[in-house]
Amino acid sequence: MFFSCALVSLSLLLATTHAAASPKAPQARTVVQWDVGTWVENVAVRSNGQLIVTMLGVPEIWAVDPVKSTKSLIASLPGVNGVLGIDELAPDVFAIAAGNFTLATATTTPGSYSIWTLNAKTNVVKKAVDVPGAAMLNGLTTLDAVKGDVLVSDSGLGTVIRINAYTGATKVVISDPAFAPPAAGIQIGINGIRLSKGPKKTLYFNSFGSSSFGGVPVAADGTPTGPVKFIAQNVGSLDDFALSPCGSYAWDVANGQNELFKISLKNGTATLIAGALDSALIPGATSAAFGRTSKDKDVVYVTTSGALAAPINGTYIEGAKVVAFNVHGL
Ligand SMILES: *[C@@H]1O[C@H](CO)[C@@H](O)[C@H](O)[C@H]1NC(C)=O
Ligand SMILES: *[C@@H]1O[C@H](CO)[C@@H](O)[C@H](O)[C@H]1NC(C)=O
Ligand SMILES: *[C@@H]1O[C@H](CO)[C@@H](O)[C@H](O)[C@H]1NC(C)=O
Repeated sequence: MFFSCALVSLSLLLATTHAAASPKAPQARTVVQWDVGTWVENVAVRSNGQLIVTMLGVPEIWAVDPVKSTKSLIASLPGVNGVLGIDELAPDVFAIAAGNFTLATATTTPGSYSIWTLNAKTNVVKKAVDVPGAAMLNGLTTLDAVKGDVLVSDSGLGTVIRINAYTGATKVVISDPAFAPPAAGIQIGINGIRLSKGPKKTLYFNSFGSSSFGGVPVAADGTPTGPVKFIAQNVGSLDDFALSPCGSYAWDVANGQNELFKISLKNGTATLIAGALDSALIPGATSAAFGRTSKDKDVVYVTTSGALAAPINGTYIEGAKVVAFNVHGL
């Protein structure tokens, strides 16, 4: 599929968000929904098309079949109350961040975080390592599948940590003011992270606290080879995102604004694709992922938290859900 992808310059611009005209709203379909009070935090996709979603408030991992619109609980992690970032490490083996985060007060328990692996064929979960020095492990992206290295964002300390999901070796590789939590309000700075494909890698990140999306070039070991820069600012309280298969855009969600954006990696233009502050389409959107089969490669799956943290119009909440958007041609 590489030939069909437009080449993207990796030069990062210090840009404020350009407003872009919104295209026609894409077709949306609710795939599955849980009970009121649930929070789906993140999502990864298996090569067979099944979605793996993580929950906050309960230490649960669920499988979702987007074709049959069914869901099933596949694992519960002991000793924690929530599951966060997830990415595929080896075929059908996923690395996962977990820890204690209290939804009611939006506060983390520093020292309670750990990294796990899930074998999606057997549903066996295994703890790789406790990370006692972390305040809030949140986003997770695979760095080196051969070695088993992942990068994990620490939303509380404003760092990116390299962790080996097999040996447990842990090292802080990036620490930057752009990752830090805000001076006031919910203490979450850097949130979702995703690594670009290709030989020259950029680590893209959301800053929840500063409503910004940015990037930093990194070496094969995850250490920075250039400065951390914002690409788009004032977008919304950005949670997690997916990079488009061609690597030109971040499909990003603003949790507090219930919105899905497409952000150009080249120039930071953020285009509102779906949702609104007062809309129940994707209340409290938390993450996004592209389908991986020929049938759903143009589908972006958005997960939600039912607006638990910021009820719509001050009162409306609903159960967490997965919504499929067909973004073909957008
Ligand atoms: C995290 O939460 C679990 C389950 O609620 C609890 O058993 C454990 O003691 C907590 N750990 C910390 C460090 O607070
Ligand atoms: C920004 O880049 C996108 C492609 O990534 C392009 O379609 C758009 O026209 C550009 N906008 C500006 C303002 O340069
Ligand atoms: C929020 O209020 C606006 C204005 O009254 C209304 O149009 C919208 O449907 C409401 N949203 C929800 C989710 O109830």
